[in-house]
Amino acid sequence: MNERVFPDPASLQAAAADYILEAARAAIAARGSYRLVLAGGETPRSVYARLAKARAAWDRWLIYFGDERCLPAGAVQRNDVMAHSVWLDQVPIPPANVHSIPAELGADTAAARYADALAGIGDFDLVLLGLGEDGHTASLFPGQPTGGPDVLAVHAAPKPPPERVTLSAARLSRARQVLFLVTGDNKHGALTDWRQGRDIPARHISPPGGVELWLDTNAAGSISAT
Ligand code: 6PG
Repeated sequence: MNERVFPDPASLQAAAADYILEAARAAIAARGSYRLVLAGGETPRSVYARLAKARAAWDRWLIYFGDERCLPAGAVQRNDVMAHSVWLDQVPIPPANVHSIPAELGADTAAARYADALAGIGDFDLVLLGLGEDGHTASLFPGQPTGGPDVLAVHAAPKPPPERVTLSAARLSRARQVLFLVTGDNKHGALTDWRQGRDIPARHISPPGGVELWLDTNAAGSISAT
């Protein structure tokens, strides 16, 4: 794991947007397309807003989601709605390139459909993830399975709503790069658990190249900013 600490959320978000854009350039140059998995939650929102203003070969971007909340299509708490409103609707990404999780169908049906959608899709280029106060990532929660099929139905998430769909830890780990974006002092306990080797769900994300863990000083605690 490679940890980087930023002095404030804004500098982390600016660097994350640059990192996402650079990964896109490299993937498109090497393979002609860019498979990016989006995180939900609040931390990435400003990153996505920065991407809305960037120049990129948008028609080569293929967007996936690491997890989704089982709410009606268009519900503002959905991760895909957030990504669309702050970013995707403002750039010329072809709608067919955005692969939302059909969570409005209920967790079991949506998980099966998304597994079908991902079948035959190779490794992701970049997976974005957040970290919850309890050590969860995507919708992989403590005490619940993180493995099994590539896409899991979640029925009792402690963070609302309880019904969710998530990629498994193994599928999220099939990625050239994985970037965790973590801000706020409420994350410090989960980070301490992670650093001390406790079995939090975020530890289960283990891509071949390791993960990038980007923190602001509030989340990092006593480690100084770079
Ligand atoms: C979700 C997320 C979840 C999130 C973390 C951190 O749908 O809720 O995918 O895993 O990334 O809970 O969220 P914040 O960035 O809001 O703290």
